[in-house]
Amino acid sequence: MLAGGAGATKYTIPRRPLLDLPELVSLCSRACFEQLPTGSQHLAQQEHRNIIRRAGQGGNLTVATTGASGSLFLQHLLLAIEREDRVQVVNFIASDGGLRVLAEELGISGRRNLVEQLLGRPSDKIRQQANADIGANVASGSYPSDAMIVIPCSVGTLARIANGIASHLIERAADVCLKEKHPLVLCVRETPLNKIHIRNMYRAADAGATVFPLIPAFYTRPANAEAMAREFACRVLAHLGLPQSDAYQWKP
Ligand SMILES: Cc1cc2nc3c(=O)[nH]c(=O)nc-3n(C[C@H](O)[C@H](O)[C@H](O)COP(=O)(O)O)c2cc1C
Repeated sequence: MLAGGAGATKYTIPRRPLLDLPELVSLCSRACFEQLPTGSQHLAQQEHRNIIRRAGQGGNLTVATTGASGSLFLQHLLLAIEREDRVQVVNFIASDGGLRVLAEELGISGRRNLVEQLLGRPSDKIRQQANADIGANVASGSYPSDAMIVIPCSVGTLARIANGIASHLIERAADVCLKEKHPLVLCVRETPLNKIHIRNMYRAADAGATVFPLIPAFYTRPANAEAMAREFACRVLAHLGLPQSDAYQWKP
């Protein structure tokens, strides 16, 4: 509850016998956000969401794939999310470019049953949405999505997100994440990078996205590309407050 006269902002805890945990977290973090410089507010809000998730309210993720190389990384992220009990609902979207790369790199064909083809079995948790359907659930800020991951993220999709061009569901859902201050993770893949790509990464980061380049680690001494992709998935999930018990840890 907000109180106070001209220029003064005071927080008073409502007089109730008991505050439940999400209410308390919300009250404290609101008080903190308003003390922070603008750039830090987004980070604080992300942490707030992580706390809410840890309090047991369940996770609702959006995962998108676009036409950059690295379909194996998408596959291992979906496999990890499918196993993750803290995530209850996943909306999955593929761009036409993403479908093309999935066909080239993993031999996945068509635009239907992608989840089943990627996981090797059907999923009750991961639902596919059409990129052309700008009226799908995740197109609205009223939908309770906790975070979005674009993996791999092409520089074309990065450009559209960084510049607010929301003509397809992927970019619209990302735009919603930014306006609603939900975490947005862009696993950008291109090499070499030109100045337009670098400027767009800056713009996206400045608007609140995390640029999480699709660059695997080698100090984990991965036995193969699958192990590399699995570790990368663990890092992305840990970044969203979902650490994996089997993740590699440097000096545990
Ligand atoms: C096999 C293949 C690999 C590609 N790899 C990349 C890449 O690593 N990064 C990238 O930005 N674009 C890459 N492209 C080009 C994009 O797919 C293309 O620019 C496409 O229009 C992106 O559309 P989208 O962002 O809507 O998915 C690749 C295309 C193909 C066919």
